[in-house]
Parts: sequence; structure tokens; C-alpha cells
Amino acid sequence: MTFVRHRFSPLQRFLHWLMAICILAMLFIGVGMVSTIAPKYLPLISIHKSLGIAILVLALIRLVVRLSYGVPALPPDLPAPLKLAADWSHYALYALMIVMPLLGWAMLSTAAYPVDLYGGIRLPALLPQSDSLHTVLWGAHYYLAFAFFAVVLLHIAAALFHALVRRDGVFQAMASVQLRDEVAPAEVVAGE
Ligand code: HEM
Repeated sequence: MTFVRHRFSPLQRFLHWLMAICILAMLFIGVGMVSTIAPKYLPLISIHKSLGIAILVLALIRLVVRLSYGVPALPPDLPAPLKLAADWSHYALYALMIVMPLLGWAMLSTAAYPVDLYGGIRLPALLPQSDSLHTVLWGAHYYLAFAFFAVVLLHIAAALFHALVRRDGVFQAMASVQLRDEVAPAEVVAGE
């Protein structure tokens, strides 16, 4: 069914801002924990594992919600290269939100480390122990973390460009509060 909607749904906005906080925290906790030595490493890695798996679960919920609710259309006067950049950066963000936690989980499994979460939950190993696979997964988790940082920075820059320069309603569509000086955003096609 097709319908008109000017903003993301409250659930989509809630998930967006909750995950923004979690992901930024994760990136900094990740870098912080590998640049420190025990005893600080251990509490940081515990938070990193539990928060990472929470991000995986939230990302899957968010994907289902997005596929069911659709998204507000971008303004029709937005240049095609910017539309393309917006679409591809969103695909990259979804891919990274799902792949990064899976890589972390698989990387620990191949090192035969248990993945223990808060609440006494122990996840099963995703892959069997393997030194060579561990090296590959460690490298993927490491380099994709930088890619994640880069895409998040681009995303923030684009959001600020819409909010402060174009004032075209794109930022308002995801803002948790309605901003008065932005024009009404474009129409929406559900299931886009
Ligand atoms: C959105 C999810 C995740 C993000 C953004 C993320 C990000 C990062 C970052 C930035 C680092 C530091 C990389 C470096 O500079 O060496 C790191 C390291 C690490 N991550 Fe993640 N991570 C995520 C999920 C997970 C999960 C779910 C696990 C395990 C269940 C995990 C396990 C690890 C481990 C063990 C390291 C340390 C590797 C080492 O000691 O060299 N990560 N992560």
C-alpha cells in the first residue's frame, strides 16, 4: 500500500538515535581498549562484546522496520550524485552495523575465546578454532572499523549540510523534535 509520510516513524527515529549513541561509543571503546593495557582492557572488552551484539540485534530490528515502513523520499531537487551518495552510504551503514558485530563474534570464536555477554549469556562459537582464519577476521574487523568511522563522519557531515545549508527537511525527517525553520520534507512512498 502507498501512503504519504513526512517523517520517519517514532520507532525509526528512536532506533536511529539510540544506535547512533551505541555506535559512536563502540568505535571509541574499540580504539580505547586496544590502546590500553590490562586491567582497563578487560572491562572495556566486556562492554564492547555486549554492546556490539546489542547493535547487531538492533540493526536487524531496524532493517525489518525499514523494509516494512519505508522511508521519506529525498527532495526532488537534490542533485542525482548526492542522492546516489545518500543511498550508498545508507547501504554501507546497514552492512557495517551487521557485519562488524558478526566479524567480532567470529574472530573470537576462531581464537577459541568464549563470547560472554552481560547477564551470564554465553554465545555459541560461530566458527571452529583456526589461527589463519582468526588473522583474516582480525584484519577485517580492524580495517572495517576505520571504514565505519569514515562513513559515520560522512553521514554526520551530510546531516549537517541538510540541516544548516540546504534546510530541505531531510534532517527534520529524522530529528526527534520538530525544527521550526526547515521547509516541509518531501512526500513518502512506503516500501521504497
Ligand atoms: C558495531 C559493532 C562493532 C564495532 C563498531 C567495533 C569496533 C571496533 C574497533 C574500532 C576496534 C579497535 C580496532 C583497532 O584499532 O585495533 C575493535 C576491536 C575489537 N573488537 Fe570490535 N566492534 C564491534 C563489534 C564487536 C563484537 C560484537 C565483538 C565480539 C563479540 C568485538 C570484538 C572485538 C575485539 C576482541 C577487539 C580487539 C582486537 C584486539 O585486541 O586487537 N567487536 N572493535
